[in-house]
Amino acid sequence: MECKGFVDASAVIGRLDKRCYGQFIEHLGRCIYGGIWVGEESEIPNHKGFRLDVLEAIKELNPKVVRWPGGNFSSGYHWIDGVGPREERPRRYDMAWGAEEPNAFGTDEFLEWCRLVGAEPFIVVNAGNGTPEEAAGWVEYCNSKGGTYYASLRRRYGHADPYGVRLWGVGNELYGRWQIGFCLDGAECARRTMEFANEMRKVDPSIEIVAVGCEDPEWNLEMVKKAGEYFDYLSVHIYIGGDKPYRELAAVPLNIEERLRNVYGLVQSARQRYGVKREIRLAFDEWNVWYPEAKAPLHKQVTGVRDAVFTGGVLNALQRLCREVPIGCFAQTVNVLPLIIAAEDGRMALTPQYLVFKLYGENTGDQVLKTAIDTDHYRSSELMRPVPYVDLSATATEDGRTIYLHVVNRHEKEPAELEISFRNFTPKEASCMYVAGEKVDDRNTLGEPDRVKIERKDGVVESGRLHVDLPAHSVNVIKTLG
Ligand code: AHR
Repeated sequence: MECKGFVDASAVIGRLDKRCYGQFIEHLGRCIYGGIWVGEESEIPNHKGFRLDVLEAIKELNPKVVRWPGGNFSSGYHWIDGVGPREERPRRYDMAWGAEEPNAFGTDEFLEWCRLVGAEPFIVVNAGNGTPEEAAGWVEYCNSKGGTYYASLRRRYGHADPYGVRLWGVGNELYGRWQIGFCLDGAECARRTMEFANEMRKVDPSIEIVAVGCEDPEWNLEMVKKAGEYFDYLSVHIYIGGDKPYRELAAVPLNIEERLRNVYGLVQSARQRYGVKREIRLAFDEWNVWYPEAKAPLHKQVTGVRDAVFTGGVLNALQRLCREVPIGCFAQTVNVLPLIIAAEDGRMALTPQYLVFKLYGENTGDQVLKTAIDTDHYRSSELMRPVPYVDLSATATEDGRTIYLHVVNRHEKEPAELEISFRNFTPKEASCMYVAGEKVDDRNTLGEPDRVKIERKDGVVESGRLHVDLPAHSVNVIKTLG
């Protein structure tokens, strides 16, 4: 299959906020306990209780933001249970997931772990059965320099300096009856968001707030109309059922891109209509494929190359949505619908989805460029639309000397002979890194952790054009030096 791409180096869509490659970790199954945290006494190698192999693997991903502690868990979590001497922390019943919460991993552990992996923390407060006062106390514990109760408590527990947590979520999926303390409609959630944001900002006016949104226009309208001056980002969660044919799964990112654009468009219309001055963008703070076998309590699944193709498609969409959706959080990083499988016996496997995040994390410019692609299409019967086999996005470094092409070949069987031409950029050399495996169902498992790898090849530059052959079902990043 032949295809031609075009990149205009002088047409910048916007700055890429690398928080769009963020992660999400929740007190659920073996994500935190067994994944992020094993405790200092564990036989599994650890650094101050943090599981070492996972810590190193996440450092390599270099996520710019990590969301915690949930998810549904956050709606029943009382942060005060998770600070202070570990042996004195209460063991609580976690109503969200019907589990026992030992509280060994709490605020200080999370913030220390974020520091180690180099991520900005994104804390979701309990707006389910918690109170605005409790949430404001949490902001004080994390951010206050003063001599008041919670700031002093933080110092007493060994953390002299405030952490300066900037990003705070007010609640999780409060539209759902499964959520502890759910709201009946957008108006109720707006009222709750205002009360929480108001008290939290009285402690630290500089914080940014993520409010609960969804794809229901009525909900979002009410949120913007009533609470629009109180939050900076509206959250959207999308999980895609994994039990669909490969070609349908590979097409879904286009649908996600459209859905996010629609939500953003509605938010902007509502701002205009109701005179909301505060800028509001989207936080796509939970997304992934969800296979039927990933059930409570562990939510285990082993994703493969097909899911890597989906993931590359979503990351390309998020690049194109850089102005609308600056924050994305993959659900979830370890053991639950996982990027990383960290077994109880100490073994670890990195999924092809992980490899895609690593590729993008290490090889992305600061500015998203305008692109065009001329390629064959197939028809998605689920989405009832033509789907281009090849998806192209491009980013450039600030100095304009390096362009990264992010290219997904959705074709299950055929490689793509890609030719790229440029405006206002002359390529001199190019190298390509890609994730493809041999078959779409190839996976990395604990028994065979290296079946799918990141592979490398050179591109050919001729008369100002770049030529690369993209393997079938592949996610590619081509680094082009000008
Ligand atoms: O990621 C698992 C769960 O899915 C989260 O707790 C919840 O927010 C979503 O419904």
